[in-house]
Amino acid sequence: MATAKAHTNIALVKYWGKENQELIIPQTDSLSLTLNEFYTTTTVNFDDQLTSDQVYVDKQLLDQQDAKKVVHILNLVRELSGINYFAKVNSTNHVPTAAGLASSASAFAALAGAASSAAGLKLSSRDLSRLARRGSGSATRSIYGGLVEWQKGTDDQSSFAKPILEDVDFPIEMLAVLVNTKKKKISSRSGMQSSVATSPYYDAWRKVVARDMTAIKKAIKAKDIDLIGHIAEENALRMHALTLSADPGFTYFNAETLTIIKAVQDLRNNGINCYYTMDAGPNVKVIYDRMNREKIVTKLSNIIGHDRLVVSQPGPGIKIWNE
Ligand code: DP6
Repeated sequence: MATAKAHTNIALVKYWGKENQELIIPQTDSLSLTLNEFYTTTTVNFDDQLTSDQVYVDKQLLDQQDAKKVVHILNLVRELSGINYFAKVNSTNHVPTAAGLASSASAFAALAGAASSAAGLKLSSRDLSRLARRGSGSATRSIYGGLVEWQKGTDDQSSFAKPILEDVDFPIEMLAVLVNTKKKKISSRSGMQSSVATSPYYDAWRKVVARDMTAIKKAIKAKDIDLIGHIAEENALRMHALTLSADPGFTYFNAETLTIIKAVQDLRNNGINCYYTMDAGPNVKVIYDRMNREKIVTKLSNIIGHDRLVVSQPGPGIKIWNE
C-alpha cells in the first residue's frame, strides 16, 4: 500500500494535440507552473482478496466506464511489476472551493506515484513522469514542482518532463478565477484531437510553440514575470484560436471568461501588470508579480465575488509514502 500527493499544474506554453493517441506522445513541447493550492492525494492497495479493481474518487465508487483510465494505469503497473492482484484506489481532490478546478494532471500523477510504489517499483522521477503521461498528458509535468518542461520526444522512452526551476525564487503568483460553468464540457482529449485534424492553423501552432518555448525559458532565466506572463497570454490565445478554427468550430470561453479578460486588460491599462491564460474550460488564471496581488484581487472581487478567487504560489513536486 502506498499514498502519493501531487499538485496540479497550469501550462504557460500549452500542450494541445497528440502525435500518438495510445502512448500520449504530444505534437509539441510544453511548459507549466505547478500550483501549491490544488492537489490530489491517492492511496493504492494491491490486495489478493479483491476480485476487481475498485476506484473511489472523493469517496464515490466509480463505475467501470469512469474507472477505465485508472485501470489502464493499474494494468501498466501490473505489467511492469509482475503483480497480478487487483487494487483498491482511493483518491481525494483538494480544491479550496466546490467550483471545480480538479484536474487530471494532479490525479494521474498521484495515481502513477501511489500505484507504482504500492507494487514495489522504485521508479525514477523520469520514469514516473512517463507513467503519469499514459493517464493524461498534463500529468507528465505534475511529477515536478515549480516550472516544468515536457519534452515531446518521439516515443514512450523519450517523452517525459524535466524541471526547469523547481524552487521558484521570484515572486510569480497565479490567481484562479472560478467562472460559472453549466454547459457540458468538451474534453481536452476530443477538443485537441479535432483541432489537430481540422484546424488549418495547426502547422502555425507548432511553430508558435517552438518559438514560445525558447522565449519563455529565457524569460524564466531573467526572472522577468511580465515577459513570462505576456508569452503565456499570447500562447493561450493562439491555442484557443485552434478551437475556433476547427471544423466544427467550438470554444471553451463563456461570457464571464470574456468579462475577466477585459478586467485584466483594464488593470494593465491602469499600470497594474497582469496576464491571463485559459485551459479546456471557462476558468481564467491570472499571472502577476505578488506585489500587485491586492489590486488585482480587489478589482476581480468586485466583478465576480471574492469566494470565486483562489490565490496560489508555485507548488512542490510529488511526495510518496509507503505504508
Ligand atoms: C489545455 O492533459 O487533459 O490543459 O492528455 O488527453 O488527458 P489528455 O489531455 P489533458 O490536456 C491538457 C490541455 C491543456 C493544456 C496543458 O495542460 O498543457
